[in-house]
Amino acid sequence: MDERHFFAACGRGLEPAVAGELRELGAQRIELRRGGVAFQGPQRVGYLANLWLRSAIRVQEELLRGTVRDPNELYEAVASVDWNRYITPEQTLAVYASTRDTEELRHSGFAALRAKDAIVDVIRQRHQRRPSVDTHDPDVPLKLIVQRDKLLLYRDLSGRSLHKRGWRPIQVRSPLNEATAAALLLMSGWDQRTPLCDPMCGSGTFLVEAAMLATRRAPGLHRYFAFERWIDHDERLWEQLREEARDKALFELDVPLMGADRHEGAIALAMKGAYEADVDQLISYTVIDAERWKPPSKPGFVVTNPPYGERIGEGDDLVESWRALGSFLRRACGGATAWVLSGNRDLTQHLGLRAAERVPVMNGPIDCRWIRYALFDGPREQPPDAQDG
Ligand SMILES: C[S@@+](CC[C@H](N)C(=O)[O-])C[C@H]1O[C@@H](n2cnc3c(N)ncnc32)[C@H](O)[C@@H]1O
Repeated sequence: MDERHFFAACGRGLEPAVAGELRELGAQRIELRRGGVAFQGPQRVGYLANLWLRSAIRVQEELLRGTVRDPNELYEAVASVDWNRYITPEQTLAVYASTRDTEELRHSGFAALRAKDAIVDVIRQRHQRRPSVDTHDPDVPLKLIVQRDKLLLYRDLSGRSLHKRGWRPIQVRSPLNEATAAALLLMSGWDQRTPLCDPMCGSGTFLVEAAMLATRRAPGLHRYFAFERWIDHDERLWEQLREEARDKALFELDVPLMGADRHEGAIALAMKGAYEADVDQLISYTVIDAERWKPPSKPGFVVTNPPYGERIGEGDDLVESWRALGSFLRRACGGATAWVLSGNRDLTQHLGLRAAERVPVMNGPIDCRWIRYALFDGPREQPPDAQDG
């Protein structure tokens, strides 16, 4: 039976979103680990994970698990894999290594080199020719992990990170990574029927991901994956899964998705991104300060990522932005659920709202909290809680 071991990597704290998506894809033996989720299934599940996972950044298949103490044992262990099943002399490979808590293999570059030598020697024995190394765009990207005396070797099915869906036109100033935005959205419990807004939408990542989610668009449908070049790639199966994904996609949506930002350039980018993702008809955008914004429909759900000073330049009045968000939430979002991503505890308190839940998550290298507020539905102001940031 074709039962493989996979690992879907994601940002720390976002593992529950990945596990939930994997469950829906029919993956088996799902186990949450730090920074990712292990699962099992046939090749089909690995393909589905690449095509459909919104919240993960890569999917890898485990090829080897073992115990090694020094470079020779590493070489022997890697050479024990039948590499002729995975790579031809005409193809290229790269081994990316990370090593931790190991004396003899502490230089990850050296560990990668030993592993690469073992692989090319196995191929050369049979073919008298060997695959070459391409660290930029290898046919077979491999990930080697050595921690203490434990070795894991994966082949990376995804290639380019899964957050690169192909819709973001250019790199913007302080965007939220697509996979992180999707994971936060999935973890928020948005039911895809409640009107949703982002009053500080920047380049619009939450809104595009919300639109893609609610219209069942497969995030990987318009990109290329490393496994498509592999010798054991099943093109028929892959085309069938892509066809099924195309059939599932909806092109209309009843639920309003609304974005605003006071920065005209940000809204121009957001509109361009939505257009590229083919969801521009499903989202409305307004250039306005949150302080004054009245969304076209009453929002029942708010997701937002206000500036918190780690990635943006000088001159932004951060406190003023957080106060504006607090006043928007109280004035325009009575009865709604709001989720706010904060990377700065001192700023959060300027919302003047009491948090109902706080989930630790990493946004790239930044330690953040994904914070839920249950907004009071009525004329009374929310009691501020300065201790609650
Ligand atoms: C960290 S960025 C949001 C990034 C966004 N999630 C994305 O995907 O690109 C914060 C945004 O808040 C906007 N902003 C700050 N203060 C604002 C205010 N008072 N009203 C509206 N937008 C504001 C900024 O212009 C910036 O685009």
